[in-house]
Amino acid sequence: MVSKDGRGSRYQVSGGAVLHGSVRISGSANAALASMCAALLTDETVVLENVPAVSDIDSLASLLVHLGATVDRPHPNRIEINASKVGTLQAPIDLVSENRASFQVMGPLLSRHGFAALPPPGGDVIGQRPIAVHLDGFEAMGATIDRVGEHYQARAPKGLVGTRIFADYPSVSGTQNVMLAATLARGKTTIVNAATEPEVQAIATLLNSMGASISGVGTQVITVEGVDRLQGTTFALVPDRIEAGTFAIAAAMTGGDVELVQAPVTVMDAMITKLRAAGAIVEARESSLRVTAGSRLLPVGFQALPYPGLPTDLHAPMGALLTQADGVSIIHERVFDNRMLYVDELRKMGAEIVSTGSSAIVSGPTPLHGARTRAVDVRAGAAVLLAGLAASGTTVVDDIYHLDRKYECLDEKLRALGAELERV
Ligand code: EPU
Repeated sequence: MVSKDGRGSRYQVSGGAVLHGSVRISGSANAALASMCAALLTDETVVLENVPAVSDIDSLASLLVHLGATVDRPHPNRIEINASKVGTLQAPIDLVSENRASFQVMGPLLSRHGFAALPPPGGDVIGQRPIAVHLDGFEAMGATIDRVGEHYQARAPKGLVGTRIFADYPSVSGTQNVMLAATLARGKTTIVNAATEPEVQAIATLLNSMGASISGVGTQVITVEGVDRLQGTTFALVPDRIEAGTFAIAAAMTGGDVELVQAPVTVMDAMITKLRAAGAIVEARESSLRVTAGSRLLPVGFQALPYPGLPTDLHAPMGALLTQADGVSIIHERVFDNRMLYVDELRKMGAEIVSTGSSAIVSGPTPLHGARTRAVDVRAGAAVLLAGLAASGTTVVDDIYHLDRKYECLDEKLRALGAELERV
């Protein structure tokens, strides 16, 4: 079981193992988080299946309980949420600062109860993470937003009213939050420049199964026809495309041969294309991917972009992979402005990477050696862990509570594939 107690834990990795076998991909952590917030929109029970047992889910569950919801977990991968007794419409900073998804309770609370007061959300330190898309969207629907002390106070005592909203940036959580709020608004809401990420699509599918009327899902223009009430549902989370990408990279990087069972193949085009360009053999079936390392890794350039581009959450793991490619690779990060913190960690292990602002140049192949490293954030942590698998000697990865936030049973899954690592 993972929890905040994971702080202070580290992984100790003995490099050199070749990964073989099959691994089952867990449900999407980010989609699960937003889905839990969606449960606040109804007084009936929402049952979420295929929820990954990761610590961000635990901290968001604590926030929902604080608000007055009941959160039952009959099984680590099943959560049953009933929000009929929600009565607390504001939250203290310690419950919101644990992760970014916590701010997604604002849309549902405001829409259903006419009020919400939340401090700014936490989350990884990967660049500026404004919430203007969320707040501007609520204001456009008639809410007033005030900053009172550390809280954003949002009020809509007469309810939200649908309107046409242009999002300054196709923010993933911003689109989700506004869409959540719009389900119970009066009339039609149109979100222009909406995010198209699979995690946004998943929330729309969940909301529609609760009785919402959302169309344009997966496009940059989402339309929500407001309804009077939503009902409970049972909903299975889509597989986690970032976890799948991480294991795919691990297979290619260790010279391995790994089957990813229940991989979300149809939303992984960018990843599959780049892995093939890097020389890996990727066999895509309906819901599984087999990744086999080729005879040598080739350099590839990539840009981390909004969906369907290569996800920013796979930038750092891809950077680790390219240290083993034969030649020079160029990386451009186009989503966040501080995604390069993993570079220094990889350099401790012998990687030759130069980063300037949002770009990096990786020269390879460089033999990596064990070192004492840190998981600076979730995905930077995944990058150093993967590098540790390919390095000679022992790598220590400190602060692995970051990895616990989004990766379910990461060490167990890697060990089952032959990796030598332990949690200390
Ligand atoms: N942005 C704005 N204005 C806003 C909001 C965002 O300009 O009002 C910009 C940000 O500055 C950033 C970009 O939009 O440059 C992307 O931010 P976005 O709001 O889309 O990200 P997010 O919703 O905070 C989610 C995931 C992240 C993932 C990003 C991008 C969750 C809980 N988090 O964050 O996941 O990297 O979308 O795909 O869903 C992770 O899983 O490790 C992770 C960080």
